[in-house]
Amino acid sequence: MSLVIFPFKQERPDVLIANVRKASRHARVSEVLGIGYENEETYRALETAAPAIAGETGAEINLALQRRIGSLRPGKGDAMNTGLDYFLASSHDRLHFYDADIVSFGEGWIDKAETAADRGYDVVRHYFPRARTDAMITWMITRTGFSLLWPDSELVHIEQPLGGELLLTRAAAKVLVDEPRVRAQSDWGIDTVYTFVLTRAGLPLAEVYIPEGKIHKLYGALSDLRTMLRECFAAVQSLRGLDIGSGYGHEIERPGPVPAAVASQNGYNLETTLRLLTENWTQGQEELLELFPGHVRDGLLEARTYPRFGYMDDETWYESYRILLDHFDPAGEDWAELLFKLWVARVLHYTANVALRGFDFSSRYLHDMVVAYAKRSARAG
Ligand code: LAC
Repeated sequence: MSLVIFPFKQERPDVLIANVRKASRHARVSEVLGIGYENEETYRALETAAPAIAGETGAEINLALQRRIGSLRPGKGDAMNTGLDYFLASSHDRLHFYDADIVSFGEGWIDKAETAADRGYDVVRHYFPRARTDAMITWMITRTGFSLLWPDSELVHIEQPLGGELLLTRAAAKVLVDEPRVRAQSDWGIDTVYTFVLTRAGLPLAEVYIPEGKIHKLYGALSDLRTMLRECFAAVQSLRGLDIGSGYGHEIERPGPVPAAVASQNGYNLETTLRLLTENWTQGQEELLELFPGHVRDGLLEARTYPRFGYMDDETWYESYRILLDHFDPAGEDWAELLFKLWVARVLHYTANVALRGFDFSSRYLHDMVVAYAKRSARAG
C-alpha cells in the first residue's frame, strides 16, 4: 500500500483539505500525511478535518511538523526529508509527494504513478504543460546547469527536475536517506539534489504526463522567486565535480495537447519585473560584474537607469552561467542580487524574443537550448 505526503507551509486550507480527501479515496492509498512547517492556520484546519475524511474514506490521516534535519535555511527540504524518514519507518511500499497548493490535483495523478511503479520503476516523476514564461528557474538554472555540468547524463533529459510531484519505492527512499547531501539540503535546493542523487543511483525512472497541468498559485513579479533562485543555483553549484555516469535511458510519456488556459497564460508580470533590473544596486555588485564579459557588464550597468536585456541571448547566458559556477558565493548578498539580475535579464530576453512567438515555438526552443548547451559543453570537455 502507499503513503501520500503533502508538505506545506501556509496554503489555502480548503485546497489542501480537498487534496488530502482526493488522495485518501484512492484504492492504493492507506495513509495520507500532511507535514507542516509550523502549527498555524492551515495545519489546524487539516487537523480538524482529518477525522471526518478518515471516516469517509477508511484511510489514516495524520499530521506531523517538519523536523530540523538539514543545515541550510529550514524549508521544503526538511519537510521532504521528514517525510522520507516517516515512510521508511512505516510498512508502506510506496511514497507519493505532492505539492499542497495544486487545485487541479486528482486521483488520476496517483493512478499514473502507481501504474508506472507496477511496471518496475522505482522513481516516477509527474510532469506538466507549463505556461511558456513559467518554469524559468527550471529551464534557465537547473536544466541549463545539468546540461553544462553533466552533458552526457540522463539529467539533461529530465523534463521537470524541480517538480515536487513524485513517487518513490522504498529502495529509492533508502538511496536518498543514506546520502548526507540530501540530509543537509533543507531549503529549495532539495528537488535538485533528489533528482541528482536518484539519477546517479541509476534507479529506473519514468516521467508521466499530466495533461490538465499543475494549476497552482503563480507568482507576481519575478522577485517572488528570489530565494528559490538563489537556493536552486547554489544546489547545482554544490554538486559540481561529482560523477554521475552516462545516460541510461528513461521512459518519458509523450506529452498530449496543451490546455488552452496553459497555452495562453503569461507566467509573470512584465511591468513590475522590468523595474527589478534598475533597483537595489550596490558597489559590490558593480565590482563583481568585472568578472563577466564586457557586453554583459556594460549592458547590466546600463540597466541601472534603463532596463536593458538585449545582450542576454542563449550564448551569453551560457558564458555567464560558467562564470557563476566558478565564482558565485551562496552566502554573499551581492552575489545573490547579481545572480537575480542576470537571470531576470535572461528571462526578459527569452520573453521578448521567444515567448512572444507562441507556446509551441517556445517549448521547442527551450528543449533545443538545453540539448545545444549539452553538446557545446561536451565538446569543450
Ligand atoms: C520553476 C519554478 C519557478 O520551475 O516553479 O522554474
